[in-house]
Amino acid sequence: MVHAEDLKRRAAAAALEYVTDGMRVGLGTGSTARHFVELLAEKVYAGLKVICVPTSEQTLAQAVELGVPIATLDEVGELDLCVDGADEVGPGLALVKGGGGALLREKIVARAAKEMVVIADSTKKVGVLGRFPLPIEIVDFGAVSIARSLEEAIRSAGCVGELRPRRDRDGHPFITDHGHVLLDAHLGRIPDPAALASAISEVPGVVEHGLFIGLASRAVLAGAEGIVVLDR
Ligand code: 5RP
Repeated sequence: MVHAEDLKRRAAAAALEYVTDGMRVGLGTGSTARHFVELLAEKVYAGLKVICVPTSEQTLAQAVELGVPIATLDEVGELDLCVDGADEVGPGLALVKGGGGALLREKIVARAAKEMVVIADSTKKVGVLGRFPLPIEIVDFGAVSIARSLEEAIRSAGCVGELRPRRDRDGHPFITDHGHVLLDAHLGRIPDPAALASAISEVPGVVEHGLFIGLASRAVLAGAEGIVVLDR
């Protein structure tokens, strides 16, 4: 049996082929994106010229440590490419992201990129999104009231389930890179991701949610049988 970490690395390695000299590249967050940054650093060491925008403090630290050239998004403006992992890859390359809590910057960076390539092991591909809890980043003012409004919004989009505050390893509320808190919506299935996305976005206090719709242009999925590339 192939180890999941090997599959993630294979997907990351396959996505390297989309990176060419002179590109401005958004770097994702998570264990699969971590492999990509490691492999990209080897290319940079060998002479590839890129300038990268990380999607989290974690990825920033890794890139700096490995000598990958870094800039802020405002310094580079538009990105040629963004390579990031996902928690679920659904029909039409709709994604659930934010398992690592970096969804806000990830979405800003994905939106600023001409192309978003998702890298993942093939178990992330699903017929219906929602088995993975959907992260929702909110401000902490009135969090209880925001959660109540979110429950209504979720029901109005035809979903059932519960919202739970995300905790860090020490059991404290998980705080994002931008100082917000995260709720995870345990829904099981999301029959209409677009309807849910707009219902959630309408709730005051919501900063961002982990539904990425119409952003990914390609998914590179690694399974025991090899690499499969899906285009939107
Ligand atoms: C972080 C993310 C990650 O890309 C997602 O959680 C997948 O992570 P991994 O590659 O570790 O499975 O969205 O916010």
